[in-house]
Amino acid sequence: MKQTMIKQFNSLSQLFTKNIIQMNDVWASYDSKNYVLKEITLSIDRGVNYAIVGQSGSGKSTLLKLINGMMLPSKGVVKFDYQTPNMTDKKFKPMLSKIGYIPQSLGLIKNVSVLENILIGSLPRINSIKSLFKMFPENELQEAERILKLVGLEDKASRKAYMLSGGEKRRVAIARALMQKPDILLADEIVSELDHVTANEIMDLISDTKRRLNLTAVMVHHDMRMALEYADRVAVIKEGQKILEIGVEGSKIVDFQTGNMTQQEITELYSDDPKK
Ligand SMILES: Nc1ncnc2c1ncn2[C@@H]1O[C@H](COP(=O)(O)OP(=O)(O)O)[C@@H](O)[C@H]1O
Ligand SMILES: [Mg+2]
Repeated sequence: MKQTMIKQFNSLSQLFTKNIIQMNDVWASYDSKNYVLKEITLSIDRGVNYAIVGQSGSGKSTLLKLINGMMLPSKGVVKFDYQTPNMTDKKFKPMLSKIGYIPQSLGLIKNVSVLENILIGSLPRINSIKSLFKMFPENELQEAERILKLVGLEDKASRKAYMLSGGEKRRVAIARALMQKPDILLADEIVSELDHVTANEIMDLISDTKRRLNLTAVMVHHDMRMALEYADRVAVIKEGQKILEIGVEGSKIVDFQTGNMTQQEITELYSDDPKK
């Protein structure tokens, strides 16, 4: 009886607390000698559109891998919904499907159709023998078709993934993540290689979906302008350290750690290409 009450209290507290990701003084290393992330402390509220910006090699992808438990910190604490992310820990397994992770490579299966790539997102819910023989239940097929429409690919369901354009591939990766019914989307430089128009289309799709499904989004960008245009909050990573974190409201920078700078000055300072 007491335990049930505690359990209920835990889930209620999760419903009402703002914070979904917490990192306290996190250090990470691939060789236990050199730290690629140092002293990272950050807090991400539910429903926020959070961007991580930094140059190549600054540690952005490593940061995402700490959130989904692909990697463990050498020091410090990482929490996702009050639990410690760890992909190999059975206790964290149910949480994993709540994290829609899109790696920079997208991770699509090239020779498989768009629809089947999307259905992969439902695998954690499906009997493994059935999924091996691609016997997806009718309700999952319907869900996949609904999401296919949502990302605007209803006429490409049977096309093989390798035959798609860059923008379409990203739509499939987004759809696969949505098929998981996630609470949070983690996207690693999802628009970096796209032309400006397609990049904005993909970002608009993510923003709309995020709003409609009440998701939290954590997106890695190397372009400060893209982050400022779409995010509520932007963290800048340099050589493994968080050197700046700003809040964005429209064209206004709010809640600013490092003094009085305009959005224009921030863009110039932290963009890869300051002239643009
Ligand atoms: N699997 C790995 N093994 C060893 N070093 C790695 C590995 N992945 C990344 N690194 C190193 O960690 C640092 C941060 O990498 P990463 O997080 O991928 O940066 P970013 O995503 O900002 O480009 C870089 O110096 C990179 O070379
Ligand atoms: Mg990266």
